This record gives sequence, structure tokens and C-alpha cells, in this order.
Amino acid sequence: MGIAEENVQKTDVLVIGAGLAGLMTALTLAPKSVILLSKGPLGEEASSTWAQGGISAALSPEDSPANHLRDTLAVAGGIADVDIAALVTELGPERIQDLIDLGVIFDQDENGLSLSREAAHSHRRVVHANGDSTGREVMRALRLRTLEASHITVLENTEALDLITFETGEEKTDEVKTVRGATVLQGQQHIVVQAGAVVLATGGIGQLYSATTNPFAACGDGLAMAARAGATLKDLEFVQFHPTAIDVEATPRPLATEALRGDGAWLVNELGERFMKAEHPLGELAPRDIVARGIWRQREKGQKCYLDTRASIGEEFPEHFPTVFNHCQNHGIDPRKGLIPVVPAAHYHMGGVETDNRGRTDIKGLWACGEVACTGLHGANRLASNSLLEALVFAPLVSNDIKDQQQNHSLSSDMSADILSDVQSFEARTFTHSELEADAITELQTLNYRYIGLCRNAQGLEALLTHLDNLDQNYPALSARFKNLMTVSRLIAQSALARNESRGGHYRNDYPDTLDSYKDHSRLTLFDTQKLDFEIIGSPSLKMAS
Ligand code: FAD
Ligand code: SIN
Repeated sequence: MGIAEENVQKTDVLVIGAGLAGLMTALTLAPKSVILLSKGPLGEEASSTWAQGGISAALSPEDSPANHLRDTLAVAGGIADVDIAALVTELGPERIQDLIDLGVIFDQDENGLSLSREAAHSHRRVVHANGDSTGREVMRALRLRTLEASHITVLENTEALDLITFETGEEKTDEVKTVRGATVLQGQQHIVVQAGAVVLATGGIGQLYSATTNPFAACGDGLAMAARAGATLKDLEFVQFHPTAIDVEATPRPLATEALRGDGAWLVNELGERFMKAEHPLGELAPRDIVARGIWRQREKGQKCYLDTRASIGEEFPEHFPTVFNHCQNHGIDPRKGLIPVVPAAHYHMGGVETDNRGRTDIKGLWACGEVACTGLHGANRLASNSLLEALVFAPLVSNDIKDQQQNHSLSSDMSADILSDVQSFEARTFTHSELEADAITELQTLNYRYIGLCRNAQGLEALLTHLDNLDQNYPALSARFKNLMTVSRLIAQSALARNESRGGHYRNDYPDTLDSYKDHSRLTLFDTQKLDFEIIGSPSLKMAS
């Protein structure tokens, strides 16, 4: 049985994902018709809603985009794209004003917008809302604007399964892949969305790991879909671990924002020693990867680690950091009187689908925005609060590019009969979720934390790849979630194995030095993937630029 006519929907643009990147892209696409997919209820299941610290932009008179650019490049391990970083830091203040115009209420102080400082920022430049509830406030306002917008149709609890691609070109050698929509699961119903342009805004990959700050939806769907469509993926080995997830029995781990350390909180081990002083001149405010590895080294020595906020924040904790305070209370911790146990947790993916300065991927009809994209802004390591900023800056660039292209009639959403008949066969596929599979995912997450986590080596990476081969053989019928987790785990392991050095978020204890010969991005594509087929045929090839 194929897809019924009424289950095929048409739109100018399909936006997959409803975090900050997806909502801002959808809003700025007006008057184009947009179908916006949200895996959960609108505004939930998105890292954007959970953002605590805030959004960075050079807004203070003492600061400048040039300072912000310098700080962004300083933590990026020498491989950030300088033009992109200059663009983002320059446009930051205007885009914050856009949010205010859309109804976001940021915290104020006697000087106007209240600006906080986070690790590796030379100035106070992080705008925030309700203390540490920035994401919730930003998404509250954008959700309202989205629901009011007549050009946007929101499909909630709806999951994109795969991109629909086809090849054009007279000669075999001219073949150009074009994306024309996606296959989608809405509740139990399979539908097809035909679109002139598709924007991936699916967020990150934290759910690959047993310890993560990311929501359940962050399982690399967009990255895996783009890989299957043949897009170039960039810098996949660079995964950022947040040093201070709260070390409690919870999945995901609640975050204790970096702004706590910005306000003077210390990191101590079980002996009460401030171990970061010996690790880096900036101590607790060193770049995130250095702090995370400092904690990891303590844990390797058998020392648990804690945030001590008693002297610096003390009684003001509930008022200034209500979100973290709530998390602490839920787990019986009172940070005014005691220590907060912390553990590094997978938090952000610097790598992603390669995009240019308009958010274009190298597949016609496909753009990517937000965490799923790799614009080159972060290089090997991201500066705190630069992620929301990146999504904010790129969303209108993507929208304007799509509008320009559709104006020039270089994109259409027509789908030939051939493609539709291919699509019809997808309904027969099974997308099972079984208990066995849940156990296999848990095992995979534990292995990923060990082998493609904070500290890697060739032996562990090869062991992980073998394990993935075994899983592939032992679980022939897999859900989209599991398949995507597997695909992205494999791609990250292969990228990490190819980079025989340490840089930013990628640390190899068998190659601890940073080497000039690797001072560049890595790029990876999957060859011979089959349209609408979850099985990846052919072997990935990694091209390491040098
Ligand atoms: P998300 O906000 O994660 O949105 C992705 C969307 O895609 C979600 O709606 C998801 O449900 C949907 N989706 C996924 N797969 C599918 C699919 N197959 N089909 C349909 N929909 C799908 N960054 C900062 O700059 N400042 C901060 O203070 C900050 N704090 C953070 C705190 C936490 C706890 C976390 C987890 C992250 C934080 N970050 C912060 C990082 C930042 O929040 C994210 O990088 C950013 O929000 C990513 O935005 P996004 O729109 O790309 O993805
Ligand atoms: C935090 O508040 O510590 C998270 C900020 C970020 O990830 O940029």
C-alpha cells in the first residue's frame, strides 16, 4: 500500500526542527509557505529551551565585535573560519535587538541589558533572561510569534525520517542531487512533505552518550539524514563536553551553568583542592575542553569533583540561578550550604553538515542551520553562549538565500511520478522500538562516552567500530532513532580515528600533541547511499585536509 494522496503535503519550504534555529528560520521566511516539524510539542524537546547562560554579543560600550571575534578564535584550536566568525560577531548585537523586537524580555540592570561573563570571554557580554532561564524565555516569545504567523503550518510530535533526493543531469557525470522534501512520521501516520527547499534544524547529538545535557530528541537525525543524502559533513570529531553537568541519577543530566563560575564559583575535588589552578592560568574560567578534561583527570585519580558556590553566590543562588537551584533541590542538594557534584557531559557538537555563509549545504535544495550545521564558526571548540548566537545570525541568512533562489525560479517543489512511486514504497518499512533495542542503545551510549568521549585512542576507536559492526548484524530491524545514533557514532569514530593529534574538543591520549599537519577541518561523505533506505551501502571515505 502506498502513500495516500491526502498524506502528501506541499509547501515552499520544509523546516525540520523547532528549536531556535528552526523557529527563527520559519519566521524570517515569510511570506513563503512553511511546514515546520517539531519532534515533540512545539518548544519542547529542544536544547534551545534548556539554554541557561545566555547569548553572547558585543553589546557593552567597553566591548566590540573585534574583541568577541578574538575570544571566539582563541578557543577554537586554530581552525575556526575567520570570515564566518567575523560575520557572526559583527551581526550579534543586531540579532539580539531582533529578539527584543519579537518580545523576548532579557534581564536588565542599571546600565540597561544585564551582561554576564562566561569562561574564556574577555568581557561581560552574555545577555540572559530570568537569571539562568534564557532559553525558556526566548522560546516562549518565538513560539507565540510562530503560532501567530499565517505562513507557518506547525506539525507537532512529528519526526522527519529521511530526505527525498533525486538526481538530475543529462550525463552520468553531470548528476546533481536535489532535495525535494522528506518522509515523515506523524504519530503512527507516514506522510510525505514535498518542498522547494528543505532546512535541517534538528540540533545536536548529545543522546549518543550515556552522560549528556541534551534532550531525548538530540540524536543526530539531521546529520544522519544529510549523510544518507550524500552531503559533506565537517569536523565531526569535535564534540564539546560541558564540565559541570550535575552528577545525579538523571537522564539527561541537569546543567549547572558556566555563569556560576563566571560569578566566582570554584571547582574543588574531594580533598577541597582547587585543582583547575594547576591546569590553566584562567583556572575555573579556562576554555571548556580544558576544564572538562581537568575534571576528567581528577575522576581518573578517583577524585569526585564539585562546584562550590557558597562563598561567591551564597544566599543569592535561588534568585540569580533559579533553574539550577530547582535542579539541585530536585536531587536533595542545597548549594547555599553544600557542594554540587559535577561530571562532564556531552553538550554540543562543533561538527555537522558543512554549510557556507548562507547556510547552504552542497546538496541542491538543502540548507542547515543551528547546531546540526557546521559553519566553521567554532572550529575545534565553541566559546560559551556562541551557539544560540550562531543560530540567530544564520536563520535570516538561510531564509534570504532561499527566497532569492525561489525568486529566480531555480528551485521548485514539483516531484516527478518516479520519485513519488519510490516514496510510496517507504511505508512498508518497519520502524520498531523494542526492549532489546533500548538495551542496545544504552550499551552504545556507554561505549560512546568511553571511546568517543573526552579522551580517545586508536584502540578504543577500533573497538567501538567493531562493536557497531556487530550491532548492525545483530539488529536487522531498527528504529530510525537507533539507526541514526549508529550512523553518527560510526561517523564520529571514523573522523576521530583519522585525526592523529589532539585539538580542542578532540583529545587523543595516543597523540596528545597538536600538530600543524592537521591544522584544518576534516570532511567526510557517505558514498552510494540508497535513497530512502536506512542501510548505508558502501564505505565512508574521510578526506582530511592538510
Ligand atoms: P535545538 O534547540 O536542539 O532544536 C532542535 C529541534 O529539532 C527540536 O525541536 C527537536 O525536537 C527537533 N528534531 C530533532 N530531530 C528531528 C526530526 N527527525 N524530525 C523533526 N524534528 C526533529 N548555547 C548557548 O549559546 N547559550 C546557552 O546558554 C546554552 N545553554 C545550554 C544549556 C543546555 C542544557 C543545553 C543542552 C545546551 C545549551 N546551549 C547553549 C547550546 C544550545 O542550546 C544549542 O546548541 C542550540 O539551542 C541549538 O539550537 P537548534 O535550534 O540548532 O537545536
Ligand atoms: C551554560 O550556561 O553553561 C551553557 C552555555 C553554553 O553552552 O553556551
